[in-house]
Amino acid sequence: MLTTLSTKKEKIEQVKVLCEEEKALILAHYYQDEEIQDIAHFIGDSLELSRKAEETDAEVILFCGVHFMAETAKILNPNKKVLIPDLNAGCSLADECPENEFKKFIDQHPDHYVISYINCSAGVKANSDLICTSSNAVDLVKKIPQDIPIIFAPDKNLGRWVENQTGRKMKLWDGSCIVHETFSEEALLKLKTTHPDAEIIAHPECNEILLGYSDFIGSTSKLLYYVQTSDVKKFIVLTEPGIIYQMRIKEPNKTFLDVPGIDGCSCNSCPYMRLNTIDKVIESLTTLQPQIHLDKETRERALIPIKKMLELSS
Ligand code: 13P
Ligand code: SF4
Repeated sequence: MLTTLSTKKEKIEQVKVLCEEEKALILAHYYQDEEIQDIAHFIGDSLELSRKAEETDAEVILFCGVHFMAETAKILNPNKKVLIPDLNAGCSLADECPENEFKKFIDQHPDHYVISYINCSAGVKANSDLICTSSNAVDLVKKIPQDIPIIFAPDKNLGRWVENQTGRKMKLWDGSCIVHETFSEEALLKLKTTHPDAEIIAHPECNEILLGYSDFIGSTSKLLYYVQTSDVKKFIVLTEPGIIYQMRIKEPNKTFLDVPGIDGCSCNSCPYMRLNTIDKVIESLTTLQPQIHLDKETRERALIPIKKMLELSS
């Protein structure tokens, strides 16, 4: 059937029909391909997407993002069918923090309060006291009493940035994102030299050196909000370039420049996020597969620190 749907217009129409038939809600992260952003009912950062997943009364959630995001949707709204167009859409950060090793790390620091970035598996969430996202990490860490030592996992770059923002030392897990780690400092400086009027804006998953050059640092939604409210007309964007699609829609008269990876590669695109395609969306809505399944115990344990995050950041 998929092969008979040739044009983009026909595919969009098919997605609409399937969503109505299945009472499905399409949630998409800003790093998705443009064609997926175009068909989504809601586009957001990981915190906003979690909230949408929790509150929806749709029967099916089709999560166009990566696995940990769809898993979080299932944890928050377990009675819904949660689909992801491609089950292989993982995350290097989540992969760098296996649950068993994480448990050992926690056991080595028994008196610590465990804060995990939402980019981790349900198993890691289940072993955490509090979940955060890049948009609320600084505020949440500030809420933990000063005398309580903190473990922060799995992103060391986000962790270090939070340390700098809060003046609070934490035990950091040694993980990072393959996408945000590969932006080329040399290419960034070249761009800044050619466009001295541009501001550099960055996601906190970038390394400390790149963040050091940045005029503004924030989650994907915060970056989008910043470019809409700033008087500046040109931005060098240090995050996955999917977000630039929305920036250009919201601010068509401003200029947005993306930064290539080391050696000029286009590895600034997240290879996991980009596994999702409109054809896989149609397939997924047609077959109601692949679905996210979680065992009850993990789901219930992981819900506690996620709920705590939503309460503390509301
Ligand atoms: P946001 O929370 O800003 O959406 O970031 C998620 C992510 O995976 C960044 O790489
Ligand atoms: Fe994970 Fe990095 Fe992709 Fe975000 S951009 S989903 S942190 S691999």
